[in-house]
Amino acid sequence: MISLKTEFKDVASIKSDALVVFVPSDDKKNKAAKRKLQTLLGKSVPQTSLDDVTGKIGETSIVYTSESFSSKRMIITGIGESNKVTLEFLRRAGAAAAKKAQSLKLASISYINENFDNGTLEINESLEDIVCAVAEGAALGTYKFSTYFSDEEQKTNPLKSVTFIAHSKKSLKQIDAGVKRALAISDGVYLARDLGNTPGLDLYPEKLATAAQQECRKAGCKVTVFDQQKIKSLKMGGILSVSKGSERPPRFIIIEWNGGKRTDKPYVLVGKGITFDTGGISIKPSANMGAMKMDMSGAAAVIGTLKTAAALKLPVNIVGLVPAAENMPSGTAIRPGDVVRIMDGKSVEVDNTDAEGRMILADALVYAQRYKPKAVVDLATLTGSCVVALGHYATGMMGNDDDLIDALKSAGDSSYERVWELPLYDEYEKLIKSDVADVKNVGGRWAGAITAGWFLKKFTGDHPWVHLDIAGTAILEENGDYTQRGASGVGVRLLIEWLRSK
Ligand code: BES
Ligand code: ZN
Ligand code: ZN
Repeated sequence: MISLKTEFKDVASIKSDALVVFVPSDDKKNKAAKRKLQTLLGKSVPQTSLDDVTGKIGETSIVYTSESFSSKRMIITGIGESNKVTLEFLRRAGAAAAKKAQSLKLASISYINENFDNGTLEINESLEDIVCAVAEGAALGTYKFSTYFSDEEQKTNPLKSVTFIAHSKKSLKQIDAGVKRALAISDGVYLARDLGNTPGLDLYPEKLATAAQQECRKAGCKVTVFDQQKIKSLKMGGILSVSKGSERPPRFIIIEWNGGKRTDKPYVLVGKGITFDTGGISIKPSANMGAMKMDMSGAAAVIGTLKTAAALKLPVNIVGLVPAAENMPSGTAIRPGDVVRIMDGKSVEVDNTDAEGRMILADALVYAQRYKPKAVVDLATLTGSCVVALGHYATGMMGNDDDLIDALKSAGDSSYERVWELPLYDEYEKLIKSDVADVKNVGGRWAGAITAGWFLKKFTGDHPWVHLDIAGTAILEENGDYTQRGASGVGVRLLIEWLRSK
């Protein structure tokens, strides 16, 4: 993780490899911003070097400063039309500048706060939120999964430190709050991305449990791990059936953050922790199967969220539940046609062993009821069908409570980890009827994301519940503005935004 910090300094004496300023694109404001820059930089920077600065969102240009500045460069970064700037545009601009610095192998950059609070940008957000967005963009945009490289240059991130400059004592406090929040959030997202990107060879249920223990305990959470024997004694037949084909025993991970009153009922977060999904006996085709190392992205989001919630000392009680298993084909694996019992005693016909996520989640959703939760939110890379429906830009959402659905929708819009509701109409229920058991684990060809949602619904209590299918948003095929190909760490920013509003 790069270091994020705040300083109270005048521009000329800031010592870093580059200063960063934002410039809007609309003609009048663009010219005004450049005039101000010209005055700041003085004659050493010829006017013509600013002429080409259009201010288009994400566009960067470098100018070199005069000797009177302790920083020798400036990265001028476009922020788009001044009256259309949103927190998302600030994330993108923050990322664009940091990525530019990273590609130039600069070690330190300083965002000058000038434009944030003097009316250049017509944005109706607090200075704290503005700075948090820019800092988040900078941190998340420069993430790189480099654990397995041998070459030093590939292994190390040149950009080490990002500083936010305050121009007054008054703004220092708000800027610092924004930077600190961004740091806690990016830490959680980095953890989720690292877990997702780590191959199944090195990240199996026991390792996922160790990672949760190390990372979340350090942050102040309580972590409990159930081993296979305990899982057996709890009759968690879904988890046991999925892990049957694997040499790696399952784990059930419980992470608690108690920031609220003792008597406050907790929010329970459940994350699918399939450390590798081959499909089992209903084996997947080999093309792109490697992406299934990220089939524990729901678990990663829950672990990252608990770590961040603890770092932010959110004044609520949160329980994270992670059923963790590896789905492998073998002589001991569960077969299509087998019937198993979930923890609540319901029987499930396993028609397809590749629909394993819902099996392990069923046990976790039943277990969640022990907490008499205020709400349960589960996250899972659950269906290819959801990716077909929504692609990579929206998480599929289903649930039983309009207020919870609305709250997550709104947290999704502000964090830009957007969610979109799919209907759990009654008519879909019959698609998972079984001839031999209480329910079947697949629903046929159509509406696969919804029949999966209906399956989960059968194992939730009568508390508010939302299921988030992150199959498309957790696993990315291309780089984005501040995401990279591979594990996105989606869910952490969404859930933190939601929980912060409590
Ligand atoms: N982990 C997969 C879903 C998935 C697919 C996630 C692509 C991310 C990208 C899940 O376990 C699965 O295999 N689901 C099946 C369900 C089917 C057998 C009903 C699917 O979606 O094909
Ligand atoms: Zn599967
Ligand atoms: Zn899966």
